[in-house]
Amino acid sequence: GLKKKEVNVLCLGLDNSGKTTIINQLKPANTQAQEIVPTIGFNIEKFKSSSLSFTVFDMSGQSRYRNLWEHYYKESHAVIFVIDSGDKLRMVVAKEELDTLLNHEDISSRKIPVLFFANKMDLRDAMSSVKVSQMLCLENIKDKPWHICASNAIEGEGLQEGLDWLQGNVS
Ligand code: GTP
Ligand code: MG
Repeated sequence: GLKKKEVNVLCLGLDNSGKTTIINQLKPANTQAQEIVPTIGFNIEKFKSSSLSFTVFDMSGQSRYRNLWEHYYKESHAVIFVIDSGDKLRMVVAKEELDTLLNHEDISSRKIPVLFFANKMDLRDAMSSVKVSQMLCLENIKDKPWHICASNAIEGEGLQEGLDWLQGNVS
């Protein structure tokens, strides 16, 4: 068949937001990990959608590893930014890291799509995706396509919607 277009995706967000759990769900069932552990540094994962072949850099969100993120901005064609919708206390930290990302010269100069997952929507006190969007001031992003999906990475809910959006917005 036709060779699928290769896309590099950078998966970012604070530690414990659910990045690895999301990426794991997007992989073919027979290659999924049974147990998810906190990421050390980063891991590279691959999976395919109907038209694209994704290489995902699943970065650790721990503060001591966040300085690694910027080294992968240049080669990325899209960003997935994951938020723990139940972590109200650290929403300001997530916003700081997002703002640092968006203001970086390797990102600010490019129209790459940014997909947000307001993850852990299953938690009883989870904020809605609208609320998360307001807390992160996403309406201020005017120079890039962006989209936010509520997700439950454990059950896999919301992930396909996000991937479909990403597929339609990478160039
Ligand atoms: P780092 O690798 O440390 O940056 O964390 P991460 O963002 O990769 O988070 P990870 O996928 O390791 O998930 C952290 C914890 O959150 C795990 O215990 C997951 O099972 C849990 N988790 C992930 N997604 C969800 C979700 O949608 N709902 C709930 N309730 N828990 C989730
Ligand atoms: Mg991880």
